[in-house]
Amino acid sequence: MITLPQLPFATNALEPIIDTQTVELHYGKHHQGYVNKLNELVPGTPFEGKSLEEIITSSEWPIFNNAAQIRNHTFYRNELQSPTENNIPQGALLDAIAAKRWSFETFQQAVIASAVGNFWSGRTWLVKNTDGSLDILNTSNAGCPLTLNKKALLTIDVREHAYYLHYQNRRVEYATNIWKCINRVKVNELFGQ
Ligand SMILES: [Fe+2]
Repeated sequence: MITLPQLPFATNALEPIIDTQTVELHYGKHHQGYVNKLNELVPGTPFEGKSLEEIITSSEWPIFNNAAQIRNHTFYRNELQSPTENNIPQGALLDAIAAKRWSFETFQQAVIASAVGNFWSGRTWLVKNTDGSLDILNTSNAGCPLTLNKKALLTIDVREHAYYLHYQNRRVEYATNIWKCINRVKVNELFGQ
């Protein structure tokens, strides 16, 4: 039985960047929905008793989609915190950004452009490759770096349920504003692991 991880902040903690109703629906309906569906699908299959990671790396639709969506959404929640100004990464992560010949601003704009340009219903990710370098990539639907042998450092959910109540079609504004809510310490920790 897979359970929905507890929301690591109050439902209004991301205001005004991500509104309370969006958090309530995204977590309480969509994230919970993936958990419910997976728990319907798994009994009687070889995936019973397996971890999410084991399921994601060895299953196909629809079990894969629901398992990956659970993990992707937990990752997204865990990287967010109440809005903070001057929320710029430091240390080793900033060095890795510089190694790509990016300033923080050009890096940030590249992630935003990737999020805005994701034609599919999916996500933009910052990932760490096995050689320690960074990449920005898009996935569609339930796609995730785990199956690409890349380590996820940061994600922006660009499925409309993530932003549409507050931002409607203004995805650029959502993808820009969410940087204030990204926990740079958490991203840096992931990079160092
Ligand atoms: Fe989502």
